[in-house]
Amino acid sequence: MDNIIKIENLIFEYKREEDNEIVKAVNDISIDIERGSFVAIIGKNGSGKSTLAKNLNALLLPSGGAVYVNGNNTSDETKTWDIRQSAGMVFQNPDNQLVSSIVEDDVAFGPENLGIEPTEIRQRVDMSLNAVNMYEQRKKAPHLLSGGQKQRIAIAGVVAMKPQCIILDEPTAMLDPHGRNEVMEIIHKLNSEGITILLITHFMDEAAQADRVIIMENGKSILDGTPLEVFRHVEEIKKIGLDVPMAVELAYRLRKRGVIIPDDIISEEDLIEYVFNRSKEFNSYI
Ligand SMILES: Nc1ncnc2c1ncn2[C@@H]1O[C@H](COP(=O)(O)OP(=O)(O)OP(=O)(O)O)[C@@H](O)[C@H]1O
Ligand SMILES: [Mg+2]
Repeated sequence: MDNIIKIENLIFEYKREEDNEIVKAVNDISIDIERGSFVAIIGKNGSGKSTLAKNLNALLLPSGGAVYVNGNNTSDETKTWDIRQSAGMVFQNPDNQLVSSIVEDDVAFGPENLGIEPTEIRQRVDMSLNAVNMYEQRKKAPHLLSGGQKQRIAIAGVVAMKPQCIILDEPTAMLDPHGRNEVMEIIHKLNSEGITILLITHFMDEAAQADRVIIMENGKSILDGTPLEVFRHVEEIKKIGLDVPMAVELAYRLRKRGVIIPDDIISEEDLIEYVFNRSKEFNSYI
């Protein structure tokens, strides 16, 4: 298996400013991320998701264990640029990520910093804006765009660096449902073009769209598998204070009421199809 990221017994400790206490935000995580895959990371507030993400592109360096991106150890300072270029990051608030007053200048910012030739920058900017369906808006001022559009510009800025992997830390948290859908569509599109995706999210329905879901709790990975494998653990997931995708929840409740319902339902479409196909049978329950 070709792994773009290898995380070996990663530990990350913060020193809390108030009392100098050590906080173990990531506590012995070992995970490999397969090249080209789409991985969702979920977990309650404070479970260590963002800390893990920042360790994946050398924004933070391990207190223990090691992280390798494309075989490069993140603790090797001579590789920091390579690592940041291979594994781009998108954060929650698009306003904090946009730096220029014109969309296309913003997207050019990353490649300019890489010292790339102006003609190639032009090509990369156009390619990236097309990739996020924002080419038409290239001359606009970012502050005039919707939240979803701004977040797509932030993603274009990362795409322009030609990363092999994009780590998105709650990119849809500040968006309305329409903006969230727009961003999820782009994430799927980039993944289908071969970019590895790591998506941190609080939305279970977004996590259900990944190839693999990892649930974090207290700095550890406690569940790891396909969405179907992971979301089968409904009670365990609820016990740690998380939800499951809406269709999984509904199927779980129906099952509890004695309805025979298959355990491979993960999306609303799956549930609708099943209920529709079995509607005659369901009538006898009502
Ligand atoms: N700069 C910091 N200094 C000290 N402790 C920190 C710092 N940043 C995070 N922590 C602590 O580390 C732990 C993990 O935080 P982290 O931000 O990684 O969690 P998270 O899963 O991303 O949470 P959220 O869902 O709220 O974004 C928490 O206990 C948090 O309080
Ligand atoms: Mg976070």
